[in-house]
Amino acid sequence: MNSSEIRDKFLSFFESKGHTRVRSSSLIPGNDPTLLFTNSGMVQFKDVFLGQDKRAYSRATTAQRSVRAGGKHNDLENVGYTARHHTFFEMLGNFSFGDYFKKDAIHYAWELLTTVYKLPADKLTVTVYQEDDEAYDIWKNEIGVPVERIIRIGDNKGARYASDNFWQMADTGPCGPCTEIFYDHGPEIWGGPPGSAEEDGDRFIEIWNLVFMQFNKDEAGVLHPLPKPCVDTGMGLERLSAVLQHVHSNYEIDTFQNLIKAAARETGCTDLGNNSLKVIADHIRCAGFLIVDGVIPGNEGRGYVLRRITRRALRHGHKLGQSQPFFYRLVADLVREMGGAYPELAEAAERVAQVIRQEEERFGETLENGMKILEAALAKDGKNLDGDTAFTLYDTYGFPLDLTADICRERNVSLDEAGFNAAMELQRKKAREGGKFKMAAAIEYIGDKTRFVGYEQLQHEAKIVALYVEGSPVNEVQAGQYAIVVLDTTPFYAESGGQCGDSGVLTGNGGAVFEVSDTQKIQADVFGHHGVLQSGKLTIVQSVKAEVAGEVRAQTMRNHSATHLMHKALREVLGSHVAQKGSLVDADKTRFDFSHTAPMTAGEIRQVEQIVNREILANAATSAQLMAFDDAVKHGAMALFGEKYGDEVRVLDIGSSRELCGGTHVARTGDIGLFKIVAESGVAAGIRRVEAVTGEVALTLVQTQSNRINEAAAALKAQPEELTQRIVQVQEHVKSLEKELAALKSRLASNQGDELLAQAVDVKGIKVLAAMLDGADVNALRETMDKLKDKLKTAAIVLAAVNDGKVSLIAGVTADSISRLKAGDLVNFVAQQVGGKGGGRPDMAQAGGTDPSGLAAALAGVTDWVHGRV
Ligand code: ALA
Repeated sequence: MNSSEIRDKFLSFFESKGHTRVRSSSLIPGNDPTLLFTNSGMVQFKDVFLGQDKRAYSRATTAQRSVRAGGKHNDLENVGYTARHHTFFEMLGNFSFGDYFKKDAIHYAWELLTTVYKLPADKLTVTVYQEDDEAYDIWKNEIGVPVERIIRIGDNKGARYASDNFWQMADTGPCGPCTEIFYDHGPEIWGGPPGSAEEDGDRFIEIWNLVFMQFNKDEAGVLHPLPKPCVDTGMGLERLSAVLQHVHSNYEIDTFQNLIKAAARETGCTDLGNNSLKVIADHIRCAGFLIVDGVIPGNEGRGYVLRRITRRALRHGHKLGQSQPFFYRLVADLVREMGGAYPELAEAAERVAQVIRQEEERFGETLENGMKILEAALAKDGKNLDGDTAFTLYDTYGFPLDLTADICRERNVSLDEAGFNAAMELQRKKAREGGKFKMAAAIEYIGDKTRFVGYEQLQHEAKIVALYVEGSPVNEVQAGQYAIVVLDTTPFYAESGGQCGDSGVLTGNGGAVFEVSDTQKIQADVFGHHGVLQSGKLTIVQSVKAEVAGEVRAQTMRNHSATHLMHKALREVLGSHVAQKGSLVDADKTRFDFSHTAPMTAGEIRQVEQIVNREILANAATSAQLMAFDDAVKHGAMALFGEKYGDEVRVLDIGSSRELCGGTHVARTGDIGLFKIVAESGVAAGIRRVEAVTGEVALTLVQTQSNRINEAAAALKAQPEELTQRIVQVQEHVKSLEKELAALKSRLASNQGDELLAQAVDVKGIKVLAAMLDGADVNALRETMDKLKDKLKTAAIVLAAVNDGKVSLIAGVTADSISRLKAGDLVNFVAQQVGGKGGGRPDMAQAGGTDPSGLAAALAGVTDWVHGRV
């Protein structure tokens, strides 16, 4: 039975038992900061277990793509070293949401294994949680498993509920006791049953875990009963396939064998049992699906896990002797293996390959050099690798620590991780000291938070609560000083969420005028107004009128609101993998970075412009509401991954976009005026940047461009609409003139030939001539050479020309003299003196040179040189 059939039999079996077949969810759990990746089938149902979400069904079955690389469940280090660890695997599962419980779950599992998959009952052993008599009795009395094959496992991991038979998704969340089913691979393989001293051996392999979800674990570790007991089961497709395909290692199943063959093909490795091939086969699945789900290699969070996995695969390729990009080519094989079950993979194939290729090219530049550094360090000390070298490899050569650790493990070298961490900390400290945080870090403030009134007002009376000059608190600021002012209330927006801080003015009694050039937070909710006091004095508790520069703010708001519309439009035009990676909004422009691999085409840019401008023309009112984060997400608000949101968030509706955002925005979309993209570029692998302008800036841009077009048209004496055609005509004209010019120059140059005849010097019967032909190209040199040879009859000739600082040389020797002198030697004699080298036939040779300064002397020396040779 191949893996696809096994998968399908599982899903069909549970469908026949009233379960709804649900598609695998993304590897990126939706709005779940407790989890790095979807690590099992239950993740998409977490809220259903918790009673916070309802589905139309109470029974479900899935084949879920899962990743266990980083976070609570992490198998990365084991990949390639064991028979059944993977970073990526498929989990087959059935779920009951308050419907059936232990009895049916166990009966279904047994029926499927023994009657559908036809596993012999005596090959199966089960475990139950120590206290779970109910499960024990079902196995013993209803299924009839002999008691010696029902094993109770207690809290064997050092704490209450820390047990192999108590499953938890993460440190918090749904959890419960479980019963596990093991397959006995037979006595010829070392290992003992679960709970025995030899349990880590490979003989008894867990194939299915049935979890009886009963509790929700909170952050304090307290278990709260779930509203209704549920069932969550998980069976690794790869392990089950190994059993059903009668192989011992997961890497021997059909899917892996095909990927291993593909890896061998791409690396030129002929030993199909090589561990590196396993690592590569495992990693292409993981990297491939992570990219399908929108992850891009990066230096943090999920992106860094992807980078580590990809680079580890590349290193293994390198170990097999492959120094060129190869990993991306396995995407096609992956699609062949898994694209049927996961259409999203087939759809994204091209993008996936591109992202991997970029990462390969990027790492390819440093992998080789990094390996040299590592080899050099290991040549000095073959037993230990010091932390500083590991850090240099990380920092300069892009070697993730686990990649270095992987190499050390292969060679039995111990790696000084503590030294690595110390080197890392030292670098961070230096960066902090020398960095831009200096000023902010130095500011001490104890007091109330700033009340921000800038959503509604641009002017407000306020009281000064703190003043700083050069980072230190002061009671008074004098005219001319650069200072930071903290107010109790302010209409000034402090930079955050990509929107820059407001500028404006604070005015007070006695002619105090403080020009605010920027507003930055000095603490989470405390705003600092940065600027220079132009006149008067500022003192603590003094009242001031705070006034935001309205036009700058208005233009910034236009850009910010347009950014939301653009984000939405980009997803519409390019696909839902587009995720915001950074943004900067000020009065001049919006700059938006997002995940996408290919440059946008002119057509795509136009489409985005059109969608946004259509939203502007619809002139819908924008609205902001505060709501609970969960509600916001439930209502479809786009939240940014990696961004920290409070319990209560501000949800912004602008046209058809809904995003979480604390920024300031226009009242109606029409206020944006006009939206125009001005630039599109790549900023990092898989990340594009778009810059756009709005309102008056967009108008000015359009006017400037149209003026330029008019001026250009006038200069070409054409109408603006004929401009392109005229430019093409002019270019063609120029081209034909250039051709003509070249022909003329050439003719002129060969005419010089006649004048040169007189310069020929007789050396032992050979007429020797070395000369410069002004303005000649290579053709002209050749033609002249032929003419001179004809006329001089017995001759050795060198002709040279200099064009754009480059020397062209040609040497010719008449047929009657080639036994005495070779044209190649002659041309090289000159070429060597002008920084070049050449060659050719005995009668005709050519060369080039880069240093015309030596040419005159070289030519002058030719006669003597010939003298010496003939
Ligand atoms: N969620 C359970 C597991 O992953 C079934 O083992």
